[in-house]
Amino acid sequence: MTEAAPLLSLRLSVDYRNKPGVLRDVSLEIQPGEILGLVGQSGSGKSTLALAILRLLHLKAGTARGELFFKSENLFTKTEAQMRSLRGREISIVLQSPLSSLNPVLRIGSQLSEGWRAHANGTQAECAPAIHNALSSVSLSNDADFLRRRPGQLSVGQAQRVIIAMAILHRPSLLIADEATSALDTITQSEILRLFAQLNRELGMGILYISHDLLSVAALCHRIAILNAGEIVEIGPPSQIFGAPQHGYTRKLVAALPRSPFLDSNGDKPGNTAASDDKQGRAKPMEKEFSVPEQIPSIAR
Ligand SMILES: Nc1ncnc2c1ncn2[C@@H]1O[C@H](COP(=O)(O)OP(=O)(O)OP(=O)(O)O)[C@@H](O)[C@H]1O
Ligand SMILES: [Mg+2]
Repeated sequence: MTEAAPLLSLRLSVDYRNKPGVLRDVSLEIQPGEILGLVGQSGSGKSTLALAILRLLHLKAGTARGELFFKSENLFTKTEAQMRSLRGREISIVLQSPLSSLNPVLRIGSQLSEGWRAHANGTQAECAPAIHNALSSVSLSNDADFLRRRPGQLSVGQAQRVIIAMAILHRPSLLIADEATSALDTITQSEILRLFAQLNRELGMGILYISHDLLSVAALCHRIAILNAGEIVEIGPPSQIFGAPQHGYTRKLVAALPRSPFLDSNGDKPGNTAASDDKQGRAKPMEKEFSVPEQIPSIAR
């Protein structure tokens, strides 16, 4: 296989006006078609990194410095007009609360058309197939009744699928999902996770999947980056993160995961396993029974 250029490559530090050092020399790469998980506790800087990639930090009085390359192009040299043309077309973002991301008074069909027209000047005859494809990619109905509905007439899971359909209308090469499943119940959450895996497989979309939930990331991502207080402490495949974590903070995160019958290969009751000795993150590989990749069926790998 020839070595492809990374889809995204960055090394960034970010300050907010009254809070310097929110991200400190954060460095990562996403390969084309790769799903990279970004995990860290609340306030660690995950959304800040998403905004920095989209060059939207000015909206929150933040500034970024360092390097930011997308498809080998330096995004720091782009004008705002050039960035606007990139956002939603080449790099899209899906946020946590689907209902607040949709316009409550506009019909779903109109919102999708607007989303398409933001980056294309075609006729209705050209717009309709794009909407049809996006809706069928997220397993939503394309019939007139559905397109006439307003956001209040959708379930939260349907609304999140609409948001994802909007995000993929122009087949971006990079989709950023910032806590995109956190507001959903567990069954809907797992359906949406499968959807991300499917989009990745079928459309070859690279995904930066941001979450505080290490377990959901485990099943979906090819690699996981662990962010702690503005610094990436470890990046590796799930087998490393769960089976042989290198950093004390990663070990602490893994040790803090809830035990459930689903996780326990021995069939022991939750909490009846050994790994709790690792609480302080001593340099010891996780116990065998916590090798999550063996126990959570991968949906992307
Ligand atoms: N506009 C701002 N001005 C000053 N500080 C900010 C601003 N926005 C965010 N912060 C601070 O920057 C840090 C990182 O915030 P960020 O929203 O990136 O965290 P996060 O990891 O996404 O958290 P969560 O999981 O809760 O979404 C936090 O300490 C937050 O309080
Ligand atoms: Mg956030």
